Amino acid sequence: MPPSTPSPRSGAAALLRWFARVRRPLPWRDAPTPYAVWVSEIMLQQTRVETVAGYYARFMAAFPDVAALAAADIQDVLRIWQGLGYYSRARNLHRAAAAVMRDHGGALPATAAELRTLPGIGAYTAAAIASICHGERIPVVDGNVLRVAARRLLLAEDVRTPAARRAVEEWLAPRIGAAASPGDFNEALMELGETLCRPAAADCAACPRARNCAARGSGDPLRWPVREAAAPPPVRRAVALALRRPDGAFLLVRRSGERFLGEMWELPGGFLLEGETPRRGMVRTVPQLATARRLRRLGTVHHAYSHFRLELEVYAAEVPSGGVGILPAASHQASATPDARWIQPGDLADIPLSKAPRLALALAVGT
Ligand code: ADE
Repeated sequence: MPPSTPSPRSGAAALLRWFARVRRPLPWRDAPTPYAVWVSEIMLQQTRVETVAGYYARFMAAFPDVAALAAADIQDVLRIWQGLGYYSRARNLHRAAAAVMRDHGGALPATAAELRTLPGIGAYTAAAIASICHGERIPVVDGNVLRVAARRLLLAEDVRTPAARRAVEEWLAPRIGAAASPGDFNEALMELGETLCRPAAADCAACPRARNCAARGSGDPLRWPVREAAAPPPVRRAVALALRRPDGAFLLVRRSGERFLGEMWELPGGFLLEGETPRRGMVRTVPQLATARRLRRLGTVHHAYSHFRLELEVYAAEVPSGGVGILPAASHQASATPDARWIQPGDLADIPLSKAPRLALALAVGT
């Protein structure tokens, strides 16, 4: 071991001393029950701490424990989640709460291995709950930890590869093994990545581990982590119709449960087929169009989802009084739903709507 390489024990101790000094007073740290840590860690996936804080407070006020969440209507859970994105996280939390009530007597299991059997709890969340709440010596490897480790070790592989993850886990194992508190060790490393060792800026002067960091020594720490250029996500084109009744209400349809954006509401419409024009796509996907009039184009909404970019052509039309009933849109690819409702613009806040339909409705309201 070269003289400048610290022992895992002294490295972990230095990290924990730093964390004790700078630890942010986050709401879920006041009383880190397994439920609080679970909810916060699920929210923190793909989402910044500053964004999560408000959502977390509203979620815990509405569903203070596992039993309350399990008993809740999924529509109420999604309404609180609305705007955080990645809605399968909310559906899985709700499903897992029911499983905890049914199979675990209402208490989350204590080990990472058992936690991973619950819907939506993967390696990262299981390790966070088990280490923070029960002291299990298991490393959390999220994007922040991967970046810190890639810089510390000058990892040559793309950090998203299994080989890179293995190298990081091997580096972490003796360190978390020697840490006085495994939960604090994991939180400290995540916090280091979020506050100092950031993607486009590295505050090495404030870093407790800078002396031992190979990327810092290279003079250009931002060259790590290595990432191969990924293919850009595909563009998917869709149409949506803002269909309005004489009293101003819009028709909304609910997506079915198990799919992408399941249980969320949207305007009737759907994805276009290869080479299909938006008008033809509208006729094919919105049966209610048959009795509508004054069909007109309002504009295009762009929205980036995790795995595709949506280009949504938004149309408006009106139905005469006593016009269409609520026909289930059986042929309508993006919305073959069990439910449809006329909603007044002033009541839209009560309906879980994801970003793209919200933007589409904003084009239609007031036209
Ligand atoms: N990011 C995600 N989870 C975190 C945690 N528990 N502490 C600090 N940053 C985090």
